[in-house]
Amino acid sequence: MRSRTREEVEQEPPITYQLDERVAVERFREPSVRGFAEDVLRALGASAEEARINADGVVTASLWWHPGQHQGLEKLFRYARRMRNGGIVPDARMTWVRERPAAALLDANRGLGYVAARRAMDRAVEMARRVGVAMVGVRHSNHFGIAGFHAKRAADAGLIGISMTNAGAEMAPWGATRPILGTNPWGMAVPRAGGRDAIVLDMALTQSGKGMMRWLRRAGLPMPDHWALTPAGARTTDPDAAMKGPLLPIGDYKGYGLSLITDILTGVLTGSLFGAQVFQDDENYDVAHTMIAIDIEAFMERVEFEERLERLIADVLGAPPIDPDKPVQLPGQAEQERARHRLKSGVPMDPKTVVRLRALAEDLGVPFSLEPAREPTPPQAG
Ligand SMILES: NC(=O)c1ccc[n+]([C@@H]2O[C@H](COP(=O)([O-])OP(=O)(O)OC[C@H]3O[C@@H](n4cnc5c(N)ncnc54)[C@H](O)[C@@H]3O)[C@@H](O)[C@H]2O)c1
Repeated sequence: MRSRTREEVEQEPPITYQLDERVAVERFREPSVRGFAEDVLRALGASAEEARINADGVVTASLWWHPGQHQGLEKLFRYARRMRNGGIVPDARMTWVRERPAAALLDANRGLGYVAARRAMDRAVEMARRVGVAMVGVRHSNHFGIAGFHAKRAADAGLIGISMTNAGAEMAPWGATRPILGTNPWGMAVPRAGGRDAIVLDMALTQSGKGMMRWLRRAGLPMPDHWALTPAGARTTDPDAAMKGPLLPIGDYKGYGLSLITDILTGVLTGSLFGAQVFQDDENYDVAHTMIAIDIEAFMERVEFEERLERLIADVLGAPPIDPDKPVQLPGQAEQERARHRLKSGVPMDPKTVVRLRALAEDLGVPFSLEPAREPTPPQAG
């Protein structure tokens, strides 16, 4: 595939994940969103602890991301379907299969992915505090949600966290058209001193996902031509034409390589499914995750690390921006700022999602307790 010329890049449609007026959203008070998600998960059979962890995950996703990225409460429909058909087993008995001082393997026994990943990262943190660096694999799991949520768990405990998962095949090997690998996201979180937001790099290994493509299609907007291919392998800016084609990796063949290695570190290494088999059987997704925790003090005194990190960050943020209205940002900065804003202005949701949530609540006999946010906010405010 040839690279685009500078002219072509400049002609690309401007894409922003900021909410805009083309597809309206409704906003709800965060505590009511959290409470509602917990009620739904409880009604589906999750224990109180599981419902709390999983609701925290989907609410965090709704606070961080654009509703079109489809990681927030939108995921409850899939969880509901699969908790009912046995693909996700609520309150599953998860078991430790292998244990060494710096490595362990958890069998999630088809339990909730958010819960399995939480247990794995907590175990990695506990081990890393003793031995310096620890890695925990998880097999026979389910969708673990947003990778940054799990990595940040380690950063909140003062360690560096890395989390990754395999996922359903949506990316073709570089130069091919048939999807074999997943979006296989990575979360990497680094704690900062003085109560500053952690650095949280949280990214799929594809340029974008089908959710955002659907959102642009509804908004009548074109997509950048490096997001996805038509099923025949042609570049396109028409989200519709690429809906059945493969997603393109970040960094061309390098992103494909990262996705392949991620599947090796997750699916292959833990004994779960890998490649095109993951996420295929609705009753047995058999997803794998890998959590890594790094204790900074295994390498140097914490204050020294913090001082060195802040020097690097100052250099990075001090780089002159191309556009003075767009200052340099750190990974995870926009999401964490957006979350604080949404805690006040309300959690934005696609009205179609709200209709479906109402129907799900009715079906489960759960009160539809989402409370509209009081103050309408300008759409550009995120
Ligand atoms: N569980 C799964 O199967 C699965 C699959 C795919 C994605 N996801 C999740 O979906 C979410 C969205 O992923 P995505 O790849 O679409 O995210 P994205 O492309 O919107 O952002 C990726 C990263 O880039 C950073 N970033 C964006 N703009 C920046 C800028 N101007 N300067 C500095 N950093 C910047 C963000 O802070 C973020 O850390 C993530 O939480 C991911 O883990 C989950």
